[in-house]
Amino acid sequence: MKIFLTGSTGFVGKQILQDLIGDKHQVRCIVRKGSEQKIANYKEVDVVHGDITDAGSLEGKLAGCDAVINLVGIIREFPFKGITFEKLHYEGTANLVIAARAQGIRRFIQMSALGARPNGKTRYQQTKFRAEDYVRNSGLDYTIFRPSIIFGQGDKFVNLFASMLKTQQFVPVVGNGRYQMQPVAVENVSMGFVKSIEQKDAIGRTFDVGGPEKLEFNRIIDIIGDVLCVPPHKLHIPAFMMNLAAEMLDWLPAFPITKEQIIMLREGNTCDEKPFFAHFDIKPICFKLGITRYLTV
Ligand SMILES: NC(=O)c1ccc[n+]([C@@H]2O[C@H](COP(=O)([O-])OP(=O)(O)OC[C@H]3O[C@@H](n4cnc5c(N)ncnc54)[C@H](OP(=O)(O)O)[C@@H]3O)[C@@H](O)[C@H]2O)c1
Repeated sequence: MKIFLTGSTGFVGKQILQDLIGDKHQVRCIVRKGSEQKIANYKEVDVVHGDITDAGSLEGKLAGCDAVINLVGIIREFPFKGITFEKLHYEGTANLVIAARAQGIRRFIQMSALGARPNGKTRYQQTKFRAEDYVRNSGLDYTIFRPSIIFGQGDKFVNLFASMLKTQQFVPVVGNGRYQMQPVAVENVSMGFVKSIEQKDAIGRTFDVGGPEKLEFNRIIDIIGDVLCVPPHKLHIPAFMMNLAAEMLDWLPAFPITKEQIIMLREGNTCDEKPFFAHFDIKPICFKLGITRYLTV
């Protein structure tokens, strides 16, 4: 099949692009000008320029494709640059749905996130949910995936804490660190997307996607330390202090965490992972084994 892929230059996108090619699909990637070199290794890919937040740039670009996979998303807003959750998650998705309908594509696969809900505590969660809802009401043959934190080669979560453990005496932990997450391997997430394309019984479904273990944040740091053979010294910082620091500094790309991320971390991020793995017949990858493959090479 011919797949129209957005977000192909990102961490998850590269894995999905590779797996689509491996599965003998043809892929057309819509890429912002200047980002095309990030996927220059994939010679067989049809690259077109555009930006999902610019509806005009989508005109005619989807024609001839059989399915759309939409991965574009951000974790940090830069309102002064016009980069907002509303624009990227909601408006971008709406533009893409409208373009898919106009250009005759029925199959639409959407990347959302665990915790997306109408009354979510953060704009990230709210806009992810509104994008989902737009897709659900689009009349298209949709499937939606809602992953917990995703780990794998090039991720920004495990690699951040791994580099802190290697270079700093302490890893800062927000509050008591007892909140739970369900890290899922990028290979598992990608396989779900790729398998769903041709599965009729995945149409109209929204899948929560978590790894096989629910892990406290403290435990995640311990496991990363264990894999790297470094002592996982943690410095627990009261949430109000982290909030204060993020309040002042989270507009800086170098500041490691935003106010919204602090809220989402502390509320936890877990689900029933079994329906996803059972439906797509995927073997879950354990966190420790998964991170060992790329942290120790
Ligand atoms: N990583 C996780 O743990 C995780 C967990 C749950 C859900 N998700 C979701 O999964 C998706 C991919 O995440 P990721 O970790 O792979 O993120 P990423 O590495 O930051 O990649 C984001 C992708 O979106 C593209 N993009 C950003 N702004 C754009 C715009 N205005 N127009 C077109 N493309 C734009 C980027 O293109 P450029 O190369 O041009 O910047 C890049 O390809 C997101 O929707 C995210 O919310 C991720």
